Amino acid sequence: MSHPLEIPRLRRSVLSVPAINQRALEKTHALDCDVVIFDLEDSVAVEKKAEARDNLRRFFKHTPLSGRETVIRINALDSDFVADDLELVHALAPDVVALPKVNDASCIKRLEAQLDGASLQTRIWAMMETACGITNSIEIAKSGKSADGRLDCFVIGLNDLRKDTGVPARPGRAYLVPWMMQVVLAARAHGLGVIDSVFNDFRDRQALEEECVQGRDMGFDGKMLIHPDQVEIANHVFGPSPEAIEEAKAVIAAFSRPEARDLNVVTMDGHMVERLHLEQAEKLVAQISLIEKRGKPA
Ligand code: COA
Ligand code: MG
Repeated sequence: MSHPLEIPRLRRSVLSVPAINQRALEKTHALDCDVVIFDLEDSVAVEKKAEARDNLRRFFKHTPLSGRETVIRINALDSDFVADDLELVHALAPDVVALPKVNDASCIKRLEAQLDGASLQTRIWAMMETACGITNSIEIAKSGKSADGRLDCFVIGLNDLRKDTGVPARPGRAYLVPWMMQVVLAARAHGLGVIDSVFNDFRDRQALEEECVQGRDMGFDGKMLIHPDQVEIANHVFGPSPEAIEEAKAVIAAFSRPEARDLNVVTMDGHMVERLHLEQAEKLVAQISLIEKRGKPA
């Protein structure tokens, strides 16, 4: 398959929906999130796994989502549920399967082996949420690099990582930031997307906004979310601001002038702009057109 990142994607708001919750599943049609993760893992009790799979089977058959990237989060590879989860993935062919608790590159290879052989285009997202996973993030990112590799995004999972390491939840995430930046860097070095972790206190809109701004400034594409009320804030913070749009258009205009044709550097309002800024501006314009193309849910 072609390398997944050749296609630009919109991933400002990545909403997790417990597959056991039928009302929540139905609600997704009306939500303005860019991506929906149908969760079979942590939000579904052990005794309810089969019922959750049945819910997804019905949902995909009768009321499938359109225009949004769809992800099914399966249970960990060494769990008792993964065989049935993978059978479901083969039947429903979501855009993405999210693999929890990825400790090393062999986890990706094992999952790829389970997906190969069928005509599935399904890509892989790796949950980076264990101490081993973070320390191996470079090797894991590299493993997705092969021409037929399916890995295309990392998602940080701080609830598990805090549990694994004993680092408590604190505003600002000071002691977690170095590990998170390691994951961002590994992802970018190997052409992967990267999504920030959930924010648990879903009634606190201001604190969510602050954490979104922090995640955006750290280089994340968007944020994993747990509640519909979080979608608008993530879309706003991870989307292009009016100032950024204006600036991008000015950069594109500056490089479109005939006299700039052979120049790699131009001056704009007293500051230097390089051709690499033109590439960034074109990406931003592409993001705007993806947002417009998706439109708002009815
Ligand atoms: N996706 C879609 N709809 C959701 C939703 C979600 N993640 N979370 C809540 N809703 C819906 C509820 O079903 C409810 O719908 P209704 O009004 O039709 O009944 C509405 O939004 C309001 O929900 P609210 O009462 O504010 O929240 P709650 O107390 O029912 O649920 C949580 C709170 C945290 C339990 C719930 O949001 C949730 O399960 N989130 C996802 C958790 C998850 O995926 N964890 C794993 C990843 S870390
Ligand atoms: Mg987790």
